[in-house]
Amino acid sequence: MKHCDSQLHVTGRSEYVDDVSPPAGLLHAAVFGSPIAHGEIQSLDTSKAREIPGVIAIYTFDDIPGEAYFGAIVQDEPLFADNKVFFQGQAIALVVAETYEIARQGVKACAVNIDPLPVITCPREAFAKGELHQELRVFEKGDVDANWSKCETVVEGSIDLAGQEHLYLETNRCRSIPCEDGQLKVYSSTQSPSVTQKTIAHILGLPMNKVEVDVKRLGGGFGGKEDQATHWACMASLAAFLLQKPCQLVLSRSDDMRMTGKRHPYKQDFKIGLDSDGRILAYEVSHYQNSGAFMDLSNPVLERTCLHSTNSYAIPHVRIRAVPCRTNLPSNTAFRGFGGPQGMFPLEVAIEKVAQKLSVSPDWIQERNLARSGYVFHYGQELEDDRLHRTWQETKESFDLETRRQAIADFNKKHSSKKRGLALMPVCFGISFTKTFLNQGSSLVHVYTDGTVSVTTGGIEMGQGVSSNMIAICSRVFGIPHDRILCNSTNTSRIANISPSAASATSDLNGNATIIACREILAGMKKVAATKLKCEPEEVTIVDGRVHCSGKASELDWNTLVLESYFARVQLMAHGFYTPPNISFDPVVGWGRPFHYYTYGTCLIEATVDCIQGTYTIDTAKLVHDLGRGIIPSVDLGQVEGGLAQGIGWVTLEELAFSDDGQLLSNALSTYKCPDGDFLPDDIEVKFLENADNPGGPLGSKAVGEPPFMYGMAAFFAIRRAVEAFSPIEEEETKSPITPEQTLLKLYPNAAHSLTANATKLKK
Ligand code: MTE
Ligand code: HPA
Ligand code: MOS
Repeated sequence: MKHCDSQLHVTGRSEYVDDVSPPAGLLHAAVFGSPIAHGEIQSLDTSKAREIPGVIAIYTFDDIPGEAYFGAIVQDEPLFADNKVFFQGQAIALVVAETYEIARQGVKACAVNIDPLPVITCPREAFAKGELHQELRVFEKGDVDANWSKCETVVEGSIDLAGQEHLYLETNRCRSIPCEDGQLKVYSSTQSPSVTQKTIAHILGLPMNKVEVDVKRLGGGFGGKEDQATHWACMASLAAFLLQKPCQLVLSRSDDMRMTGKRHPYKQDFKIGLDSDGRILAYEVSHYQNSGAFMDLSNPVLERTCLHSTNSYAIPHVRIRAVPCRTNLPSNTAFRGFGGPQGMFPLEVAIEKVAQKLSVSPDWIQERNLARSGYVFHYGQELEDDRLHRTWQETKESFDLETRRQAIADFNKKHSSKKRGLALMPVCFGISFTKTFLNQGSSLVHVYTDGTVSVTTGGIEMGQGVSSNMIAICSRVFGIPHDRILCNSTNTSRIANISPSAASATSDLNGNATIIACREILAGMKKVAATKLKCEPEEVTIVDGRVHCSGKASELDWNTLVLESYFARVQLMAHGFYTPPNISFDPVVGWGRPFHYYTYGTCLIEATVDCIQGTYTIDTAKLVHDLGRGIIPSVDLGQVEGGLAQGIGWVTLEELAFSDDGQLLSNALSTYKCPDGDFLPDDIEVKFLENADNPGGPLGSKAVGEPPFMYGMAAFFAIRRAVEAFSPIEEEETKSPITPEQTLLKLYPNAAHSLTANATKLKK
């Protein structure tokens, strides 16, 4: 089986929000956003915009009929600015017009007079000034302070870790249609239909049952539409509700880049101590999260940063300090890995620095410190198997680590202007929402009298293949070909209280619910078959659409059995509900068993640096990934390769640039470079761990959506090791991404020093 949308995608027939034929009289909206990052609004002049023929209405804070403030964790964000603006691009007004072009013209004609206030873009500065979304949190294990003196080697450092633009192909959009009696039907590109439904109701002062949200698929979400598709759905719905006319809001690429939050950038300080055997005795890290203007999901993102701060390693003494800092940037938000990558990064930097000091290879330290079964993480969860270790060993062995290491050493001896490097990256990523209540999935399965099946779940198809997985699951549980099954749109009227499609858990939660629903239907049908075939229901199986009795094919086929069951008045639709067992987490104490299980893997990346230009190539990426028993191999491979590519982009090319006054400079694809097919390694090899059934996942599978992202970090270290072979790296702060420009500065530290000095002089 392939991804069920692949044919539609490559022929351009798959439908997104604004592909469906527009309803008569559809209006279009566009957003007027703040031109500056922080200030007090003195006056807003929309009179010129209102004069433009075709402009229907302009809405601001005062037009919100319900509650103006909303937010997943803290209701601190107004739909439109309320006297003050807190980031460049923050919505001030919505222009509604007859066409998209007129709406945009209307936006251009709006004028606002804002008294500027000081702008903060750096989380360290925000921290120093007490601009916090929440107090500092500390996770502790053992006694860090008492152990530094027992360490043979101690290294400290600071990190400037950049964010990342989601760059989903489909920008944020929504179409909202008023229906009878004040009801709304909303087509939104959201990962969280129920949050969108609830927030629209909240903003408009409607009961939730009057708002129906429907999602066929997204052109990518990557976390960017977990919490931040809501704003645009609320705005389109506000206009639809107040005007009682259908209204659509589609963000342009540059508006989407300016107005929405991204992966959180962090500033970090670390200290690591090793004993004489190369074992990490103590590790301390401080995370200054650049949270942006409002809380959004910063709190759970930072929590996952804390949980994954020791990644795959067993460390007896740990202290993690973390604080979400308020800055004048768009509120940063969920992004593949959900804070996990930011947690893992500093420890890898620390290991690299220690290795450099000890003149050993970083993977020697990595290997010596890999966590084994029985290890208890600093938040209380125990590692229950040794699969992490298996992926590490298999990566080393099946990809000939030692041969590669030697080949690189030989190459570096022979070449003076090109250098190569390699790095390994082990990943141990917890699967479940850390907000335990979100771990629930629902599925509604219908078997029609012609034998075809439709399945609706809480899962949102965003390219990751959840619809295909649901079809595959129905196909295997029922024992019928997958082309008899269709996966429907996700809809709040068919499934209530849907958890976001996120945390890599969508197929797990909704897939297990689908199994429950299918089995309930099947149980009734098997009784009908048993009566007909004169056997026991337990003896009945269905294979390839043919009913079997005690393993022997009978004359009865699926279609006939369905019809017979219908005439026997047997229930042919069922709702399945699933929650994973044995998870709980106390966020206040920071203790519990937050994860249903872990997804593991190890990746090896090699890079070559041109030491004259600072450019580089990523030559190979080879990895062993624990997929459990995968559901659809091509879909899983797509997730692994896609995650890897996005991870490589984060630490190499993708450079978000804000000016000191909070303007997004990298506001188009001409100034924000993301990896393309040319940049990615030609030699990508993915091996799935064998004999690795996962009892917790549907059909033995494991969640795969986010973990592969973190493999990409190996590219950062492979490039640095190539640089090291040319000239030792000396730095006060380790900066990611390592763009070609950064690489050049690392290659020529003396030139870099004078360049920086000159730049400072010029600025003054
Ligand atoms: N893959 C594609 N093609 N598009 C996406 O938007 N989102 C990622 C990942 N893979 C994404 C993707 C993120 S952030 C998550 S959490 C998971 O998919 C969500 O889907 P899952 O729970 O089914 O893995
Ligand atoms: N992952 C992704 N999204 C989330 C989480 C999480 O752990 N918690 C709340 N939203
Ligand atoms: Mo993914 S960041 O959990 O949407």
